[in-house]
Amino acid sequence: MQHPMLNIAVKAARRAGGIISRASLDVDVIKVSKKQHNDFVTEVDKAAEQAIIDTLLQAYPDHAVLAEESGEAHGNSDSEYQWIIDPLDGTTNFIHGLPYYCTSIALAHKGVVQQAVVYDPTRNELFTASRGRGAYLDGKRIRVSRRDRLADGLIGTGFPFRDLQGVENYLKMFGTMTEHCAGIRRPGAAALDLANVAAGRMDGFFEQGLNPWDMAAGSLLITEAGGLVGNYTGDSNFLFEGEILAGNPKIYAQMVKLLEGYSCAGRPAAKSKTGASATEDNAQS
Ligand code: IPD
Ligand code: CA
Ligand code: CA
Repeated sequence: MQHPMLNIAVKAARRAGGIISRASLDVDVIKVSKKQHNDFVTEVDKAAEQAIIDTLLQAYPDHAVLAEESGEAHGNSDSEYQWIIDPLDGTTNFIHGLPYYCTSIALAHKGVVQQAVVYDPTRNELFTASRGRGAYLDGKRIRVSRRDRLADGLIGTGFPFRDLQGVENYLKMFGTMTEHCAGIRRPGAAALDLANVAAGRMDGFFEQGLNPWDMAAGSLLITEAGGLVGNYTGDSNFLFEGEILAGNPKIYAQMVKLLEGYSCAGRPAAKSKTGASATEDNAQS
């Protein structure tokens, strides 16, 4: 039987997915605002977030919430239970009608992620995990890949695009990784990228400048699928440090060797997006 808190998270993610899918039928009419350079938010992100928070707090009014668009404004911030929410991960893809985005919801207890949901409304794929109980895709157990040589591995990443100061460092890493793996992909939604590592569709993933809502659910999916997750030095205390490296255990170890020298862990993400005010309406047009 699924954990009751996971059940509620699934209900919330499916509600958000419904809002996102309906809106995706006509992306041209969606109102887009810019939070900072290359960082967009739409009315859909906000509506999906509200639906998620309403669903979660109706069931657990005493829990805390950390959500991308509204920060810690909802719930009881003193609670040991905190929902970590990205209502629409991959907003830039969504705005362009590129079908690669998801909703990500995690529940942490005393800072440790216990429940995770990543829902991809474009493929109607639901990834779930409860700590100690394995990771699932549409109810079927998933595991990280068994590929053991990085040279054969397909590796996901995210390019810097908000804070371009990191580009030089990134390009060096990109060069090193390109020389040592079979292929690199930049799909554009970190939470879904991590879910795809959990499902064995990619062998590893690395990105800097992320926020906890990009990583929380995906990281539990990966560990429950038998993978490893941490920062570039292999430190497992990464969730609020802005940097993630994940993979099956063999590939993870090889990636740490290549990337540890590039770690920026502890430097905050380009700028926490929570609470940032929109500056330019319909900024993409
Ligand atoms: C972004 C996506 C993207 C990653 C960015 C994230 P958003 O999330 O996950 O793949 O490269 O760093 O901020 O803004 O679409 O929720
Ligand atoms: Ca995100
Ligand atoms: Ca988002």
